[in-house]
Amino acid sequence: MCGIVGYIGERPAQDILLAGLKRLEYRGYDSSGIAVILPGKNTPSVRKSPGKIKALDKLLKSKPLAGSVGIAHTRWATHGAPTQNNAHPHIDCENEIALVHNGIIENYEPLKAQLLKEGHVFRSQTDTEVIVHLIEKFYKNIPLEEAVRKALKLVTGSFAIAVIAKQEPDKLVGARSGSPLIIGIGQRENLLASDAPAILEHTKDIIFLDENEVAVLSKNSCKIIDLNGRLVTRETRRINWDIEQAQKQGYKHFMLKEINEQPKIIENLLDLRIQKDNGILFQEQDIPLEKLKSIKSIFIVACGTAYHAGLVGKYALESLCKIPTYIDVSSEFRYRDLLIDKDTLVLAISQSGETADTLAGVREAKKLGASVISICNVLGSTLTRESNGVMYTHAGPEIGVASTKAYTAQLAAIYLFAFYLAEVRDIIPQNKINKLLEELRAIPKKQGAVLKEQDAIARLSRRHSHFGSFLYLGRNINYPSALEGALKLKEISYIPAEGYAAGEMKHGPIALIDEYRAVVCIAPASKVYEKMISNIQEIRSRCGKIIAIATEGDANIKELTAEVIYIPKCEELFSPLLVVLPLQLLAYHIAVKRGCDVDQPRNLAKSVTVE
Ligand code: AGP
Repeated sequence: MCGIVGYIGERPAQDILLAGLKRLEYRGYDSSGIAVILPGKNTPSVRKSPGKIKALDKLLKSKPLAGSVGIAHTRWATHGAPTQNNAHPHIDCENEIALVHNGIIENYEPLKAQLLKEGHVFRSQTDTEVIVHLIEKFYKNIPLEEAVRKALKLVTGSFAIAVIAKQEPDKLVGARSGSPLIIGIGQRENLLASDAPAILEHTKDIIFLDENEVAVLSKNSCKIIDLNGRLVTRETRRINWDIEQAQKQGYKHFMLKEINEQPKIIENLLDLRIQKDNGILFQEQDIPLEKLKSIKSIFIVACGTAYHAGLVGKYALESLCKIPTYIDVSSEFRYRDLLIDKDTLVLAISQSGETADTLAGVREAKKLGASVISICNVLGSTLTRESNGVMYTHAGPEIGVASTKAYTAQLAAIYLFAFYLAEVRDIIPQNKINKLLEELRAIPKKQGAVLKEQDAIARLSRRHSHFGSFLYLGRNINYPSALEGALKLKEISYIPAEGYAAGEMKHGPIALIDEYRAVVCIAPASKVYEKMISNIQEIRSRCGKIIAIATEGDANIKELTAEVIYIPKCEELFSPLLVVLPLQLLAYHIAVKRGCDVDQPRNLAKSVTVE
């Protein structure tokens, strides 16, 4: 939610900030703005605009900003409508300090009331504006970072901020608590950003700012202090993402590019973890093996698509490791009376590693003594730093708001983790492990085969793009696939879609079925295949429009519906890795046909860093 970029150096800041914002637009896209220190006058000069970043781009073309120090912001509105006034940066009463913010200031109302009493003039309805007025209040004969520190000690909620000021035009200050902020170390320049893609073009040397830390940047230096003013040392890490990964590379949308990247990502992930003797490599954790052996239960916490990956994980972990596995969406988990303790392993799944509810859930679990393993895509994110171990998904930057490649990479990582745990606990005979891993290794090629059929899937999708609502049905390990298929469709096409366990159909959803309802039936070869066929028969006799996902060679299903998408034969346990590809493509092509902005769907933001 909201993206921040900051630059201090020798090059023109405007273009660097704007390019950075474009790479962060997935985080929020209802308005944007930029402030640059005007050379000579040293005042922060601001341009902002409601709407997508191209509106700001247009404005800057007609009214460019010169200067080599600046901050920028792309917004996902929380407090105050997406108007010009509410867009960031926000400035103090004297137009001398400019600030951008990602997060929510929960106590902004009393702070604002107090500041108003003291004579401050507010120009927006945002919670953010209180921070810049607080800084103004304290910024009297002390360095900017000291004023920032004093201001931040008064606010509650979550924030990542970047600040520039007239009095110290060669300084860029950033700070974070609860929202991500990274520092890019360059040659005679330094940068700040919410996420790496914004600065990858300029540097891969990154410092991950920790909670309650303040960064003080000049073009040649980077000092970090905590909120009490103590100096902090943080290592610089080199990230292996490259800028091409954050570009469309000829695809019409990031989502389509990311769908097509999946076979390679899964193949790389498997190569990285599966050793010659089929042992699973997982050194990035500090939980003693003895403890892993004695774990009594696993609790999975995640949101959205990552939650669906976790649902598949429950089946996989129970089947491979024989450990009772529970799962909850993070927003429920965090407020439950949790029956977990030191014998519980919490598996937190998150693409971004910054989802507020998942982080809160993990913190609750740790308080109760549980160990936490995370499955995460973003190196150095908050979740990874707060876990006892991390299995990275190495999917590269995911820019499309609808998660695709991160999902299948999460699935692969969960399977790998389940094999690892099964090995540690000596649950499965080696010959069975060998056979299953061989099947898993065959998946990327089979995914490639599904993607080869994407023109046919696109045609089928377009034939169904006029339906006003969709039902997705699946059973057992593909019940989560039904949920994920429905989520993909609703978030990018805005068509109401529901995912259901097919066995529940007769308990209600069957009432919805008529000739106007499209029903996606996930029916690959499996132990529940016959049950799915019965569901299909029932839908057929009520004239529902069926799209089936089935295993190649299944001629039977063709008798029941003309619309079948085939996937290659595979081990049932791994079928979610194949089944989801046609579901992603179906959602994508329906949304494109309906003229929707698939990479930036309305009201959504990539990382939900506020509750
Ligand atoms: C998926 O398409 C979504 N945009 C969303 O549900 C996402 O998976 C969820 O917000 C969790 O994000 P995370 O993986 O970064 O924690």
